[in-house]
Amino acid sequence: MTNPINPLRIAVIGGDGTGPEVVAEAVKVLKAVAQLEGIQLELREFDLGGERYLRTGEVLPEDVFQELKTFPAILLGAIGHPDVPPGILERGLLLQLRFRFDQYINLRPVKLYPGVETPLAGKGPDDIDFVVVRENTEDLYAGIGGFLKKGTPDEVAIQTAIYTRKGCERCIRWAFEYTRKRNKKKRLTLVAKTNVLTYGHDLWWRTFQEVAREYPDIQTDYNHVDACCMWMVKNPEYYDVIVTTNMFGDIITDLAAIIQGGMGVAAGANINPEPGGTSMFEPMGGSAPKYTGKGMINPIAAIAAAGMLLEHTGHERAAERVNKAIQIVTGTKMKSQAAGKMGYTTSQVGDLVVEALHQV
Ligand code: IPM
Ligand code: MN
Repeated sequence: MTNPINPLRIAVIGGDGTGPEVVAEAVKVLKAVAQLEGIQLELREFDLGGERYLRTGEVLPEDVFQELKTFPAILLGAIGHPDVPPGILERGLLLQLRFRFDQYINLRPVKLYPGVETPLAGKGPDDIDFVVVRENTEDLYAGIGGFLKKGTPDEVAIQTAIYTRKGCERCIRWAFEYTRKRNKKKRLTLVAKTNVLTYGHDLWWRTFQEVAREYPDIQTDYNHVDACCMWMVKNPEYYDVIVTTNMFGDIITDLAAIIQGGMGVAAGANINPEPGGTSMFEPMGGSAPKYTGKGMINPIAAIAAAGMLLEHTGHERAAERVNKAIQIVTGTKMKSQAAGKMGYTTSQVGDLVVEALHQV
């Protein structure tokens, strides 16, 4: 996106557990950088998540969805409540938002910030700097399936992976464009499992080959997903941009998050790249109920998600400023990225990032 969206309207969904705490720090940083960069912010909070569901039985009411649709960006804290059975909020809220807004790109930058510890021996910030582009609307996530003879010894359960030409092509093409724009190693690696998923991933493979012809300046490669897990640990420096299917993308980005310092720092964007689309930005970590209200949770991932929001809405200088401020704080202030071990409270980390905004 080239033209910055200004005024910038942002829907804020704190959500469950520690979600509201980390989002509050991201909002603090957004307000500060908006003032420095002359961005007019219009924030609106939405009450969605486990508490609302338990109170009213509503997960994503239609009128709320229609309201959200008028925003170019949503900042989301976390979804997941200990008293709500698994699946209700994940499928009913998070995945509904991704699907109904057709946020077909799930972008997950994997960058080891200065001062952040990685469990990979001998690897530093120069080695861990790549991006995963995860398809975000199809695959096993489509929710196609059913039971036969449920609850009996003869039970059958079917869960079907959906792959469409349109779905993989738009994601692959976006990944090529992104690799070109990122302008680093200019290498795009397709991660799939063509040796076993000989229909669905054959479609991905053929589409990847075809689209690649339009991008002669981008070097292409292919890894089976199991091998990718191995290399991500052994040689993370090999990767520049990875494009992959929804389910594999889910799994490998948790591995990737750990090598970049954990859930406290890993952020992601659910992007609808089309004009007028609504995109959603979130820390990758969950609602972490045991830390709720203690001021122990790390807000860096949420702040980084706000940085991605700024970049996506065309405020590239502001985004850069947030990214640099984060790196000052991780590199010179924080003791650790783990909850309760940061050397600061959640809100103090937010304050430090705001302070660092003025130094960049
Ligand atoms: C993620 C999460 C979600 C997913 C869950 C909460 C549905 O793990 O954003 O990676 O599987 O996509
Ligand atoms: Mn996940």
